[in-house]
Amino acid sequence: MKHKTLYICTECGHEHPKWNGQCAGCKSWNVLEEATLGDAHPSVPNNYTPVSVRKLDDINCDDDVRLDTGTGELNRVLGGGLVKGSLVLLSGEPGIGKSTLLLQICGSMKQKILYATGEESERQLKIRADRLGIKTPNLLIAQSTDCSGIIAAIIQNLPDVVIIDSIQTMRLSSITSAQGSVTQVRECTNALMAVAKNKEIPIFVIGHVNKDGGIAGPKVLEHIVDTVLYFEGDRQLSYRILRAVKNRFGSTNEIGVFEMRDRGLHEVPNPSEMLLSGRPNGVSGISVLCTMEGARPILAEIQALVTKSGFTAPRRVSNGFDYNRLCLILAVLEKRTGLFFGGCDVYINIIGGLRADEPAADLAIALALYSGITDTPIPEDVAVFGEIGLGGEIRSVSNTPERVRECMRMGFATCIIPKAALKQLDKSENYGIKIIGAANLPQMFKAIENI
Ligand code: TYD
Ligand code: MG
Repeated sequence: MKHKTLYICTECGHEHPKWNGQCAGCKSWNVLEEATLGDAHPSVPNNYTPVSVRKLDDINCDDDVRLDTGTGELNRVLGGGLVKGSLVLLSGEPGIGKSTLLLQICGSMKQKILYATGEESERQLKIRADRLGIKTPNLLIAQSTDCSGIIAAIIQNLPDVVIIDSIQTMRLSSITSAQGSVTQVRECTNALMAVAKNKEIPIFVIGHVNKDGGIAGPKVLEHIVDTVLYFEGDRQLSYRILRAVKNRFGSTNEIGVFEMRDRGLHEVPNPSEMLLSGRPNGVSGISVLCTMEGARPILAEIQALVTKSGFTAPRRVSNGFDYNRLCLILAVLEKRTGLFFGGCDVYINIIGGLRADEPAADLAIALALYSGITDTPIPEDVAVFGEIGLGGEIRSVSNTPERVRECMRMGFATCIIPKAALKQLDKSENYGIKIIGAANLPQMFKAIENI
């Protein structure tokens, strides 16, 4: 086979025919790495043996194609369990708890599991397992960075689940590139994918994320694997959120919430309660949002701090909310309600490391900003949701009944929602909560003042 040399950017995966100091894709410097590829378009000789083809109807898929991981939150994010033969990439910053999560499922699953670690020694792993209280006869440990050897061990032992910790420490001896390089990471993943599909063994692959948030040996991994999970959260805080960003076998909207305690990760079945705990009383700049994470409504606390600016260009800092969207809401507030943020620094924070990236969060952001700049605390039993248009109008969002029910369940007394969303509510149902429909921002502020 003819071989072709390519230069691949380690940051964005952009391919270049020639070496260059700067990547043409992401403009980073000194990031190109040499890679050898087979000929992309080989001519077709007539001595190929055909692969077998089957009718879709003849392929039987029995019911137990999904394995229960013993952790409800993980099952949900995976779309109802771990699909046999799937390759799942679990990525996150170092120290966030990826190894802990996967070691814990080894303890809760009945199946035979092979845990291959290139990061820790057997003893360290044992210490961690003892700390987590894991006692299982079904867990096999392989301490190695030799990917080919691990694959051979998988074929020999035929475990039901394999865990690779982490892909950046693995290397295939047939490839000369250094450990952790794009080529190694990609080829190791490809080799693991082949075993997963061939032997119908689900494989978890742990991947570390670099500072910029891309997986080192970057996007190349995401399109190879079946499922990409991000494990995120503030390392200083104990809450962790597991999120699917790609899933061939389920929705990517679901999140799982965990709490890191001194004996491992615990599932948090009631995230609203966790996100609202510790809310200060009578402080301005705080509002409560009801957001949908997949099929689940979740209440989150939004904080806005509006202070006099000491800079010529005031600062806008946003944590957990899109920066440009924040600027847009500020502009709408100025134009349509006369609140003036020009001389003020604005800081937005969403508690618990949650990210509010659906339009329904707009209203809660606007309310927190209103409360911050006028220095009037919002009553603590009020929750809001709705999208804001450029005219200052409040637009309808989906899943209104579910959100209202969640507010009621969490003991809120009032819910301010888009006026247009009122018709989504079932007239005959008693939601047990005061529901106010607001058509635009001035109407919402008026409603707040009258509560
Ligand atoms: P770890 O799973 O090693 O992270 P990763 O594999 O993502 O790099 O998690 C390490 C962190 O978790 C470490 O800072 C200590 C903390 N931790 C606990 O708080 N409680 C525990 O029971 C365990 C095992 C770890
Ligand atoms: Mg680890």
